[in-house]
Amino acid sequence: MKKILDLLTEEMEQAFEMAGYEKSLGRVALSNRPDLCEYQCNGAMAGAKKYHKAPLLIAKEVTVQLSESDVFCSAEAVAPGFLNLRVSDEFIASYLKGMKTSPKFGLEMPEKPLKIIMDYGGANVAKPLHVGHLRSAIIGESLKRIRRYAGHEVIGDVHLGDWGMPMGLVITELRERKPDLIYFDETYTGEYPAEAPFTISELEEIYPAASAKSKADPEFKARAMESTYKLQSGVRGYRALWKHILTVSVTDLKKNYGSLNVEFDLWKGESDVHELIPEMVESMKSGGYAHESQGALVVDVKEDTDTKEIPPCMILKSDGAALYNTTDLATILERMRLYHPDELVYMTDKRQELYFEQVFRCARKTGLVTPETKLTFIGFGTMNGSDGKPFKTRDGGVKRLESLIADTREEMLRKILEGREMSREEAEQTAEIVALAAIKYGDLSNMASKDYVFDIERFTSFEGDTGPYLLYTIVRIKSILAKYREQGGEPEAAQIRKPENPSEKALMLQLAQFQTQIAAASEELAPHKICAYIYELANDFNHFYHETRILAEEDGEKKAGLIALLVLTRDVLETCIDLLGFSAPEKM
Ligand code: ARG
Repeated sequence: MKKILDLLTEEMEQAFEMAGYEKSLGRVALSNRPDLCEYQCNGAMAGAKKYHKAPLLIAKEVTVQLSESDVFCSAEAVAPGFLNLRVSDEFIASYLKGMKTSPKFGLEMPEKPLKIIMDYGGANVAKPLHVGHLRSAIIGESLKRIRRYAGHEVIGDVHLGDWGMPMGLVITELRERKPDLIYFDETYTGEYPAEAPFTISELEEIYPAASAKSKADPEFKARAMESTYKLQSGVRGYRALWKHILTVSVTDLKKNYGSLNVEFDLWKGESDVHELIPEMVESMKSGGYAHESQGALVVDVKEDTDTKEIPPCMILKSDGAALYNTTDLATILERMRLYHPDELVYMTDKRQELYFEQVFRCARKTGLVTPETKLTFIGFGTMNGSDGKPFKTRDGGVKRLESLIADTREEMLRKILEGREMSREEAEQTAEIVALAAIKYGDLSNMASKDYVFDIERFTSFEGDTGPYLLYTIVRIKSILAKYREQGGEPEAAQIRKPENPSEKALMLQLAQFQTQIAAASEELAPHKICAYIYELANDFNHFYHETRILAEEDGEKKAGLIALLVLTRDVLETCIDLLGFSAPEKM
């Protein structure tokens, strides 16, 4: 289906043309004075210069052409030359009927769908997820869903940090604690045990301990570097131990991402491209791109037009070790080979922006990607605590994701038990669903690049621009539909009718904006646009609900028309929250 604004524009263009003006003047937009009109067109203002004529005169001539229009029920020319427009009840009803019967509410699919790889999540093996990873997971998951819905093929890859120094640190610390483990016996040639010699909680404690030690003790650090080297060069026992770290950690990560409603198609990591590095380095050298600088191997990536200093991209350290850059570049190589994507999208904290600029330039320059391949970086801002500083635990440590979720659930449960009659068990299940919406909506409703304050009080409120408010609205609709069903009605069979009152029409016009908003969110990689849209939609629905008798309506046909509108509102809202990565409970 065409976007509603495009249909209105077509009608307006025709009117301009018939009045003797260039049709491109007929662009229609949403009204910025909703108290005066629903839509507006400022073409007469632009036409005034071109035709040396008073804009109001042009506008008036255009309105004459619209007097018989089926689309607009009113077109008014107002000083100095605006066209204030209202659409006819028949037009909006038939547009919504079309939405109701079309797949994806009539959203137009791209002629040529893109293949996109989204690199988000970015968890590090052996380290617990912390709040910094939350944003990447939430925003990435939503963008993946949005672009899939918009018709593209999207592959989500978690791109684990599973290689390099952190692994060496864990292995070194393990060796210190359990020196007798068979993995450290270099003369051993048999099979290694299937069971990991540690649990996830041990692992989560080992990494921070080892990391602190390496900062305080240079000798420990040297050993960790040695272990890293041994792991990367393939020492059997180290590889076997690393596999255990990976398995234990990934099992736990899958559980944690799962509880966030975040799913990846690929669970690849930095380690997966280890074998590709020598070949890549060789080609960068032979192509004349990489050169030595103070012992290290680098590729220059600065350009004449740069206004800031862009340092070279380091490919190998002076000891020949691979870096974060190296695995990222080799991953690009692998992704191009295996999937031939049109676009690669990365989502991390915006502090990695310069880093990705270097990586992208290096990938282009060295021919790892084709000139057409789009490389996109989405840098998000920091999630701050109520003091405006990056979120910390009470004792100043990095806040773990699990505890943030637990806190939110607890607060949600308190609010649910406070206001309603529900068994504790049911309240707990509901709190789990609503808390996820509170967290995700609280995050996604901000423009990704901005910092925001994690305000648990506000995020869990049932009022205002929050996740719980939206879920509450959906649940309210569901309960009306359930009652209608109890009265013997069939909500799904009900037909959209012309609006009966202004609040109903306002709701209908808002529903008609669906396609425009989804397209904008997908093209601009902006989930916050969907949040803003459904907040307005929920407000329009609640206004309509307070103004309109629905279940008490006596005229059966009229009642069915209202019910049909409720069904469409519910479906649009539920589709949108699914694109944001959360869902609504049955009751609340
Ligand atoms: N593991 C990294 C971190 O915790 C994020 C990885 C992001 N993706 C990438 N391809 N570099 O900072």
